[in-house]
Amino acid sequence: MHVGIIGPGNIGGNLARRLALAGHDVTVSFARDQAKLAAFAAEIGATVGEPSRAAAADVVALSVPWGVIDAALAAAGPLTGRIVVDTTNQFGPGGVLDLGHTAARHNADRLPGARYTKCFNTLTARFQAQAARRTGNARVVQWICGDDTQAKAILGQLVDDAGYAPVDLGGIDQCAVMEAPRRPGAVYGEEYRAADAVAVVEAVRTGRPIPPTPTY
Ligand SMILES: NC(=O)c1ccc[n+]([C@@H]2O[C@H](COP(=O)([O-])OP(=O)(O)OC[C@H]3O[C@@H](n4cnc5c(N)ncnc54)[C@H](OP(=O)(O)O)[C@@H]3O)[C@@H](O)[C@H]2O)c1
Repeated sequence: MHVGIIGPGNIGGNLARRLALAGHDVTVSFARDQAKLAAFAAEIGATVGEPSRAAAADVVALSVPWGVIDAALAAAGPLTGRIVVDTTNQFGPGGVLDLGHTAARHNADRLPGARYTKCFNTLTARFQAQAARRTGNARVVQWICGDDTQAKAILGQLVDDAGYAPVDLGGIDQCAVMEAPRRPGAVYGEEYRAADAVAVVEAVRTGRPIPPTPTY
């Protein structure tokens, strides 16, 4: 699959590396330091492209700091019909922003016509990189939200290819538990494995509090 990464930094860079390793055709784009971007692409077996090239991929990862999203989207151009996976968190200069709705809703509204999904945002980049080689039941959950079931299924395959256990948490407006800040009653910032994710999904689906965070 052709995967475009807009912002191959801590999070997007790990994703690019993992998906290139799995045999996907990865285009990395959007950096202030073009020499660093070229060196990174060569290291992992990806291609450097303009953001518009990344935006033409089958799946497009948006992985830039919150305050840079509008600039990245302007550089990418229209994402109509594209499966977009948003890895971002709503951190402003003073900390976590209160948007009045989910951050996923906020960004989905900035992406008219795109097949919006959100994933890879709940765990630190360092942990994601460390955990990506796990196998079997020890694999770490990457929560997915979105309103497009088929887009989530395609993303789920990429999550699996990258080395994680994909879990569909629900829709764009029901995904607050996977969003910042880290707090009791949320999965954001917590390690989960697939067996413990089932009860979380059921709780979110039925509007109940999620079970206590598991320890491993
Ligand atoms: N870091 C984490 O542990 C973590 C965990 C979960 C989710 N997230 C979220 O994922 C998103 C990406 O985080 P990240 O830590 O991967 O970001 P990052 O490494 O700081 O930056 C991502 C990419 O954006 C590029 N970029 C281009 N123009 C930029 C500009 N004007 N200002 C800043 N960066 C620019 C950077 O390249 P250049 O530096 O060459 O410009 C870099 O490749 C954020 O929304 C973050 O909240 C992060």
